[in-house]
Amino acid sequence: MPFPIHRPRRLRSSEAIRRLVRETELSPNDFVLPIFICPGEGIRRPISSMPPQAQMSIDVAVEECRLIASLGIGGIMIFGLPETKDEFATGAYDDNGIVQRAVRVIKREVPQLLVITDVCNCEYTSHGHCGLIVDGDVANDPTLDWLARAAVSHARAGADIVAPSDMMDGRIAAIRTALDANAYQNTPILSYAAKYASVFYGPFREAVESAPQFGDRRSYQMDPANAREAIREMELDIEEGADMIMVKPAMPYLDIIREARDRYNVPISAYQVSGEYSMIMAAANNGWIDLDRAMIESLTSIRRAGADFVMTYFAIPAARLLA
Ligand code: PBG
Repeated sequence: MPFPIHRPRRLRSSEAIRRLVRETELSPNDFVLPIFICPGEGIRRPISSMPPQAQMSIDVAVEECRLIASLGIGGIMIFGLPETKDEFATGAYDDNGIVQRAVRVIKREVPQLLVITDVCNCEYTSHGHCGLIVDGDVANDPTLDWLARAAVSHARAGADIVAPSDMMDGRIAAIRTALDANAYQNTPILSYAAKYASVFYGPFREAVESAPQFGDRRSYQMDPANAREAIREMELDIEEGADMIMVKPAMPYLDIIREARDRYNVPISAYQVSGEYSMIMAAANNGWIDLDRAMIESLTSIRRAGADFVMTYFAIPAARLLA
């Protein structure tokens, strides 16, 4: 029966009714905060394009982690800035590397906080690419060995989950095999399965000083124009043993998140990346949009599209708003 029998506005008439029929709820449990660890002590170095995010030395990060845990935030994702970079990304799989040291200290000091590590090489290579360069491009198969070693060393340091973000073919199988061979059968893999070659990573590359010194990442990260290819990537990663998959970036790719949710029964996450964050912060700092509402609406849209949890630089302020 058409109007006037049906009046959808009835269910929007008060906050109490709206709350009752709300389909998507946000919880700090479902946020993961990416953090950037640098060498040194007592350091909190602001990242100018991502205010108020900062690179932190391990001691400062530990204090931040106590706060993160106390707010009930789901976990952290650790990125590292090594002391030195080289052609072979040595710092990525060094048991004494920056991420490995940070994980050991954080898991000792704040054991209840879930620690995810990003497994990639671009922060550790002198050229800023995600693997071994042969003839001007990243060579897939030799890079798998670096990734597998990095994942094992993260697990050995105490990482709860490893998250490969490199987009090499076959990396999930290589990492799973290496973890199992080293008695880390119980360390889950969160795969950055559908990761696009996105302009929205720009501020992050300032944050970790990982901009490629030549060329771009289009020979390994996905073309933003493709959706079926994302399904294929996710399928392969699940077959290879990914326990959870991720779509990245988030807001420009809500359709991909929805596809993932409808097709697969593994947990789905999405990464609200640096550029998504910085756009909202910039507009808010100019007085053009309301920051609190923009952060809640953007996170709600990502959850509504089907993400079970979200990597977000808004984790702390959003958790405070929800408290
Ligand atoms: C590493 C990696 C990147 C991001 C997460 N892991 C950068 C890239 O692929 O260039 C981006 C995260 C962000 O923009 O917030 N490969």
